[in-house]
Amino acid sequence: MSHLNIFVGTMYGGALDVAEQVKPLFEEAGYQVEIREQPTLEVLTEHVSDLALFCVSTTGNGDFPGDFVPFVRELQAQSPSLVALCYGLVALGDSSYETFCGAGRSLDELLEGLGATRLGERLEVDAMETFMADDDAVPWAEQWIEAQQLKVD
Ligand SMILES: Cc1cc2nc3c(=O)[nH]c(=O)nc-3n(C[C@H](O)[C@H](O)[C@H](O)COP(=O)(O)O)c2cc1C
Repeated sequence: MSHLNIFVGTMYGGALDVAEQVKPLFEEAGYQVEIREQPTLEVLTEHVSDLALFCVSTTGNGDFPGDFVPFVRELQAQSPSLVALCYGLVALGDSSYETFCGAGRSLDELLEGLGATRLGERLEVDAMETFMADDDAVPWAEQWIEAQQLKVD
């Protein structure tokens, strides 16, 4: 069976809600889905040939949520090759901050720099416009599955 890991970085739970709401869509598309709330580099590298979805909010001044920081530090310190990794990214933020979606954007750059391939465009959810992030993320995920032909038998 094909696997999808959803890596979550959240302060207040919005990004975790996104992960939980999109999970059934991927199950219907034929995936066994795991939500990783405190991801480690080991989990990513063990599952590097599985599909990955990152749901990451921004805190502070363009910073990663605390529980996600060790994962990012490990990625930066160890620079593993991620050429086998295909991923999607949902970034949560608030456009009243100059560092809008700073964490999601930095993560995207970091993953790309390590050779991973993002499938399609990154979704940026703006809390100024969308109260519940999953209102944007669910239709995005439906469209992502369709456009990237991610359904598996
Ligand atoms: C203290 C604080 C700092 C924030 N800093 C940023 C920021 O620098 N850039 C941004 O785009 N959003 C920022 N936000 C907005 C959050 O990213 C946004 O509300 C998001 O939906 C929270 O998602 P979460 O519930 O998964 O943590 C900040 C919010 C708070 C409360």
